[in-house]
Amino acid sequence: MIKVQDLHKKFQKNIVLSGVNLELKESGIYSILGPNGSGKTTLIKSILGMVLPTKGSIKINDKSIKAAWDYRKQIDYLPQIANFPSNLKVKELISMIKDLRGNSKRDKELINLFGVEKFLDKKVGTLSGGMKQKTNIVLAFMFDSPILILDEPTTGLDPVALIHLKELIQKEKERGKLILITSHIMSFVEEITDEIVFLLEGNVHFEGNISELKKQTSEQNFERAIASLLISNHV
Ligand SMILES: Nc1ncnc2c1ncn2[C@@H]1O[C@H](COP(=O)(O)OP(=O)(O)OP(=O)(O)O)[C@@H](O)[C@H]1O
Ligand SMILES: [Mg+2]
Repeated sequence: MIKVQDLHKKFQKNIVLSGVNLELKESGIYSILGPNGSGKTTLIKSILGMVLPTKGSIKINDKSIKAAWDYRKQIDYLPQIANFPSNLKVKELISMIKDLRGNSKRDKELINLFGVEKFLDKKVGTLSGGMKQKTNIVLAFMFDSPILILDEPTTGLDPVALIHLKELIQKEKERGKLILITSHIMSFVEEITDEIVFLLEGNVHFEGNISELKKQTSEQNFERAIASLLISNHV
């Protein structure tokens, strides 16, 4: 479904991605991990066409994404930093996005699940961090596209919301979606991930499932296994 070939990205002199190859064929939950600044968001934004690669190609369902804007309709996206217009009420923001992207059959169910109805009349600029993230989640899951990209979806969520998010992601997987997630919360990643993609110094440094990672690093604890990838590379 997603094929990234020899992807390079430089911001001025800062080399962020230097030849990333990645092929995600099946539906399932993929976690992109790596230290702060390792290029996770840059890779995601390249797939979304929001960052222009310096070199390399990205294909979605065998079609290059270059000059093919339509492919974006197949992807729902939760940004790491959401820049919503701060003077809109939450309910106005939700209907504005529906006007832009078409009707949603799931908005009410999601609003209910995350308790968003309590602050539908609040202005976006006055929301708490967690309220903002719940709004962000409703907007990302509202349109039911086959590919779902979630950049740090757990940020600021309370434990109940976190459980709902995990269940929601699992359900979307069962419905055959390809889900790409970044997170620094290792317990969350361990619970839901099928496949890990670990970015380090511009490249995919490890790719595989959790038991393969534990075997390779000789660590039984997932968090320690991830840490040992960093320590063995003196990061
Ligand atoms: N628009 C931009 N202009 C210049 N540099 C950028 C830009 N976007 C990202 N960078 C740089 O690219 C590098 C990778 O950033 P990126 O946001 O992809 O990291 P990340 O792995 O998502 O980190 P985090 O875990 O903190 O979210 C950083 O050095 C960052 O400063
Ligand atoms: Mg990021």
